Amino acid sequence: MSKENSIYGKLKDAAAFQISKRNLKKILPSENIDDVLNSINQYRGRGFYDKIRLAQINSELKELSEKIKMHNPKVIVEIGTWNGGTFFVWSRIFPEAKKLISIDLPDGEYGGGYDVRRIKFFREFISDRSNTHQHFIRGDSKSADTVAKLKEILQDERIDFLYIDGDHTYSGIKKDFEIYKQFMSENGLIGFHDINTFREGYGVHKFWNEIKSGYRHEEFITPGSSIMGNGLLYINK
Ligand SMILES: C[S@@+](CC[C@H](N)C(=O)[O-])C[C@H]1O[C@@H](n2cnc3c(N)ncnc32)[C@H](O)[C@@H]1O
Repeated sequence: MSKENSIYGKLKDAAAFQISKRNLKKILPSENIDDVLNSINQYRGRGFYDKIRLAQINSELKELSEKIKMHNPKVIVEIGTWNGGTFFVWSRIFPEAKKLISIDLPDGEYGGGYDVRRIKFFREFISDRSNTHQHFIRGDSKSADTVAKLKEILQDERIDFLYIDGDHTYSGIKKDFEIYKQFMSENGLIGFHDINTFREGYGVHKFWNEIKSGYRHEEFITPGSSIMGNGLLYINK
């Protein structure tokens, strides 16, 4: 039996979760974006719940978030949750959200996903919000199984805001866009992370530059930076 599955391991994890939950509750911010970003740095938990990590340049995420907040999305889908950083942001800044859906491939490239035990911790992000429901799909965003699960969760609703930060290859991002676009609401918004990353294995910039001129769009890129960057596409041209 592994250490984690022993009674001692389980008790230790339960204690770590309780402490983390209490610490998180103390700092749960309002929907103000600056407060939300600050609280990510402030938070200190234990064990699997020790930190909320964010793979972003904060100013770029702030600019993107401000724009999306103006549209008050009710149904939100994130592809690529990793440590829960952006998922925490979406959970807090949209107090009127109804559905918050995370899609992440366990052990996926570009981060490696999250340990299944963190789901109960992610649920604490909205412990004070009775109208918001979180859903977690653990699988490849492009698989038929994931799409079927998404349909089941959406029922007859459409996605108001989609954030794509999963498979960063050119073919991966292209497929994500093609698959998920059909589920978007008429005035839906799609955010793309890493439109300004030019490392090997990162093809978001190429896809973004191919499609952006066909839509109303905005870019949030730190001047002089050659990494990360957020793109925002308005489905309603
Ligand atoms: C860069 S991280 C996401 C970071 C997060 N959005 C943030 O900024 O805090 C990328 C995540 O995408 C996931 N991923 C990679 N390929 C995927 C795929 N095909 N389907 C779903 N998730 C995928 C990885 O497991 C990883 O957790």
